[in-house]
Amino acid sequence: MKIARNLPDLHAALDELGPVGLVPTMGALHRGHLSLVAAARQAGQPVAASIFVNPLQFGPSEDLARYPRDEAGDLAQLEQAGCDLVWLPDVATMYPPEAASTITVGGPATLWEGMMRPGHFSGVATVVAKLFGQVRPRAAYFGEKDWQQVQVIRRFTTDFLLPVEIVPVPTVRETDGLALSSRNRFLTPAERQTAPALHAALTRAASAIGSGDAVATSLDVAKQELIAAGMAPDYLALVGAETLEPLERLTRPARLIAAARLGSVRLLDNVPVD
Ligand code: PAF
Repeated sequence: MKIARNLPDLHAALDELGPVGLVPTMGALHRGHLSLVAAARQAGQPVAASIFVNPLQFGPSEDLARYPRDEAGDLAQLEQAGCDLVWLPDVATMYPPEAASTITVGGPATLWEGMMRPGHFSGVATVVAKLFGQVRPRAAYFGEKDWQQVQVIRRFTTDFLLPVEIVPVPTVRETDGLALSSRNRFLTPAERQTAPALHAALTRAASAIGSGDAVATSLDVAKQELIAAGMAPDYLALVGAETLEPLERLTRPARLIAAARLGSVRLLDNVPVD
């Protein structure tokens, strides 16, 4: 597995490998990330992963300083997973002092996480666009756990006609339903017991809405279930799968999305509604 820490090394490695599938990450890897590497490998191309904890997507009161970092462990996992190249840029490479451009995405980026975390999706879009420019992948792989993020990345990639296929990969879950996340390690043992209640509430509500129950009532029931479990829901909504606009009725492809606080951790999850 090749490791590149500067642009000349990255480009030399890419010259040898040819077009790659890119798995952008912020490190602290788990089985969810490895499923992205597996999906990229299945497409029969060399695979590059990037590890960069992107300061631009963290708000001033967010957890940038405590975001978990484990470079040696991440590299070992990527090598084991069959990754061909790891791109480890530093902050000065990604954000040189003279850089003066960021990307602002409208539409799906303005809702839910976009409202809760002002500037977050601009940070995500800017870093992902830079990674695309540096690595020039033929495809890039993102976890459906961050459903809204995938739609935002799809939106600006389409808007700017970037020649990269965006490939969403299904969420990897613990056996009790909890979606894998780098931040799960901050749950206390008691909170870890509670955390699967988010997926359980979403699954029940999706099934109720799918079988014709009123949307507003089903969402209220699910929110009450979260509160009863000890969580503080930030939002729980039925939304258009691509636009993220709230839906009052199930009239088109939809997703049930939620964010809820549990202790010091914000859990995000989503499920399809058929
Ligand atoms: O999902 C993530 O880990 C990050 O938001 C991403 C896409 C790597 C951009 O920093």
